[in-house]
Amino acid sequence: MELVPLADGFGAEVRGVSILDVAVDADAYRAVREAFEAHSLLLFRDQPIADDIQVAYSRAFGPLELTKAASLGENSFYSRLTNLGPDGRIVPPDHRQVLIAQANALWHTDSSFKKTPALASVLTARVLPGDGGETEFASTRLAWERLPAARQESLKDAVATHSYANSRDQIHPDLATNLERQQLPPVRWRMSWRNPANGRRALYIASHAYAIDGMEDRAARQLLAELVDDVTRRDKVYVHRWRQGDAVMWDNRAMLHRGRPWDYARERSMIRTTISATLADGLDDVRPPPKH
Ligand SMILES: [Fe+2]
Repeated sequence: MELVPLADGFGAEVRGVSILDVAVDADAYRAVREAFEAHSLLLFRDQPIADDIQVAYSRAFGPLELTKAASLGENSFYSRLTNLGPDGRIVPPDHRQVLIAQANALWHTDSSFKKTPALASVLTARVLPGDGGETEFASTRLAWERLPAARQESLKDAVATHSYANSRDQIHPDLATNLERQQLPPVRWRMSWRNPANGRRALYIASHAYAIDGMEDRAARQLLAELVDDVTRRDKVYVHRWRQGDAVMWDNRAMLHRGRPWDYARERSMIRTTISATLADGLDDVRPPPKH
């Protein structure tokens, strides 16, 4: 296996090992797992992309999130990100599926609004639109390490509230449905997550976060915005330009990402699988102490 750096301080292209190898071979899994813990973002080019291979690869890393995707039936492992409607036609630009793509264009980490947050996401390109639709990544681990010691100290045990509706509401007030609001009530996480494999800490924030315990609302939102700005400074961002056959995996504990817009008159279809965080991934460390 060979690792080729993607960005300054994070990200690696994996060569010599395929996602199928990882699914069937424990040694290949161990090597890729180690690279994942160290580099936070992995790229595999020219892969045999298929749903079952993607799931088998993802499963090697831990339990999979169940995602409700209307077009694929309830409780699927697959999250389908597409501007193609159920009838096989491209949806109009004001359609919900395009608004969802626009919400994905806010800097975020996947599933921080869920009861169990995500260790990692695996995204594969199925139909690419030509120009646009890139995915951008920035390291919250490197951002944490850039923070002055006093700031690290004050943020280490700070607790932020995340909700699905908070990021959706920034795009359109009706994008999060009432059912989603009920099913996804706000959740609280510490603002840093320590990786048990290497002890490195990362900021744990997202567009889903909006409040910080013990802070005035406005000040909390301002601090969160400042932190996101610092993580995602132009020179700190890796822009992934998708190619057919790409599989990308990132560490949701240590990365922010966002999708770039594209010409919504052209199809872009991606499939995501998501691996839930477990105690072995430091889940206890990010859980806040119970509220008094
Ligand atoms: Fe995402």
